[in-house]
Amino acid sequence: MKTNAFFLGKGGVGKTTMSAAFALSLARSGKRVLVASLDPAHNLGDVLSTKLSDIPQPVEKNLDALEIDLNKWVKRYLDESREELARTYSYNLTLNLNSFFDIMKYSPGTEEYAMLWAIEHIRCNLAGDYDVVVYDTPPTALSLRFLAMPAISNLWIAELTKLREKILSKRSTITRINPASVVASSCVDKADDKIYGKLGSIKRRLADLSSLFCKESYIAVVLNPDVLSVSEAMRIKDELDRIDMPLSGICLNKRGVSTTAWTLDRSLAGSPLFEFDFLPKGLHERDDLGSIDTKNLVADFLAAER
Ligand SMILES: Nc1ncnc2c1ncn2[C@@H]1O[C@H](COP(=O)(O)OP(=O)(O)OP(=O)(O)O)[C@@H](O)[C@H]1O
Ligand SMILES: [Mg+2]
Repeated sequence: MKTNAFFLGKGGVGKTTMSAAFALSLARSGKRVLVASLDPAHNLGDVLSTKLSDIPQPVEKNLDALEIDLNKWVKRYLDESREELARTYSYNLTLNLNSFFDIMKYSPGTEEYAMLWAIEHIRCNLAGDYDVVVYDTPPTALSLRFLAMPAISNLWIAELTKLREKILSKRSTITRINPASVVASSCVDKADDKIYGKLGSIKRRLADLSSLFCKESYIAVVLNPDVLSVSEAMRIKDELDRIDMPLSGICLNKRGVSTTAWTLDRSLAGSPLFEFDFLPKGLHERDDLGSIDTKNLVADFLAAER
């Protein structure tokens, strides 16, 4: 069995509904489940008829839920980076760290990193109390960016590590040739070098998240019987392929909602398909989620190899 599940898909297809129905069904079968919303525009609490916050709230027996506070994680990420840089470069008065941080908040990647560290927090500090963590995800673009982040970051961490090794080896040579050089007072040994150590620690954290996404997660794409959500599902599948993340299942939600012609592209045929009827009366409270028949999806999840 996998220990995490992610529901991805176009806006409005039913990611929150599917995550909640799936989590509820697993919990009612006896698994201890945490369902976590990563979407900054939260509505998981409404769907579960429970007021949520960024710490797990009990929903019913075996089921807790939380909504991550992305702004808090962005702030924490920036504060930690600021402290770290100030410590590491305290000797370098020419580097204007404050102006650097003013722009960093708006730099590409900040939200994605904040999201990764929020997931890491759930993995390291909360997941131990549960059998399964289910993630309701934000819009596709942000989800794909944070899922790809460990693989992308690993490439530049590897380059930075090589560069740091070169710097340390050059320092060592200079120190040997001229022990009186100013360089002799700086670090030459990998084991003592703060920056080398930091690169190693980021690498390990990213590798762990990569393993969470690629090996320990059941990744499902939700779509509706319409051309646009199918096209978005195909884009998601392409991106997942690029970062070696297997697509575990496809959830065709709102079956029967329209009579417009649509087809499931062959590129999606490799993953099992689960179908869920459109419920004309809508979903208004937690128990309505029981009308979404997740039996086959749950069985496939439970059978999936780690
Ligand atoms: N099978 C269904 N039958 C009827 N209504 C449904 C079904 N699934 C979802 N809905 C409704 O569709 C709407 C969108 O669902 P939901 O909020 O789960 O989608 P989402 O993909 O999470 O959206 P967003 O991208 O905005 O987060 C909601 O009003 C929900 O109640
Ligand atoms: Mg949603």
